[in-house]
Amino acid sequence: MTARYAVVGHPVAHSKSPLIHQAFATQLGRVLSYETIDAPPGDFAHVVRQFRQTGGAGLNVTVPYKQEAYALAEQVSPRAEQAGAVNTLAWADGPLTGDNTDGIGLLRDLTHNQRLTLAGRRLLVLGAGGAARGILGPLLEAGPAAVQLVNRTAQRARDLAALFRPLGPVAGGGWEDAAGEGAWDLIINATAASLEGQVPPVPARVVTDRTVCYDLAYADGPTVFLQWAQAAGAARVVDGLGMLVEQAAAAFVLWHGVRPDTAAVIEALRR
Ligand code: ATR
Repeated sequence: MTARYAVVGHPVAHSKSPLIHQAFATQLGRVLSYETIDAPPGDFAHVVRQFRQTGGAGLNVTVPYKQEAYALAEQVSPRAEQAGAVNTLAWADGPLTGDNTDGIGLLRDLTHNQRLTLAGRRLLVLGAGGAARGILGPLLEAGPAAVQLVNRTAQRARDLAALFRPLGPVAGGGWEDAAGEGAWDLIINATAASLEGQVPPVPARVVTDRTVCYDLAYADGPTVFLQWAQAAGAARVVDGLGMLVEQAAAAFVLWHGVRPDTAAVIEALRR
């Protein structure tokens, strides 16, 4: 019987995960099915239970259910615990186990694909919601000199910074704290502003010609944030497609025990 996987979200029809997992499977000579499941609000737990009971082998979880998946899991990995969110569920006849591959997906894209060094560097993170929380642990573990979180709701950024302070030099504040005491090496947009076609209101001078700007979101063309960063003179702009493929690869490793070649899949998706 073909092993069945799926991504659950709402909405989810646009998800590239089926394409990515099928490309990995083809590469490795495996056969699997990978579908999208749109779970209406209130139905997430039911959808997971049903998928499991009907022989499903594993699930990815996307917006808006990552926190709900964390609550539903019977056990979670340390990195899911840190993120307070789950994007990958596995069970294999045992307990419903939650993991989170978003943060390591971003790290792998930054350090391996983009060849960026994070140790000793100054990072500005825009946003303090679930997406920001999901990446903070791995970012701090990479040893940056400073991580400044700024958010529309400043208190949310301060609270998140306090939560992660044991891991490294992180501070939280409002947009006015984006100016900082020196140039930023990397600015990461983890707000949901792109979805509304908006750019977080930080001054263009926070971008210098040695700043790399990264948007966790991706689109067919450059996102509005990356267009803004380019106009502000950024050294380089990068969207979240590489992170998407890398988080999928890490989920693939969890389920299948073998690492696919991500570069080929990122290149195919760009085309
Ligand atoms: P996610 O899981 O995508 O991070 P979230 O937890 O709802 O979703 O958080 C969304 C983030 O985007 C928050 O940082 C939010 O700011 P607030 O905490 O002030 O709500 C931010 N955000 C959403 N829309 C935005 C906009 N138009 N401009 C700037 N920030 C925005």
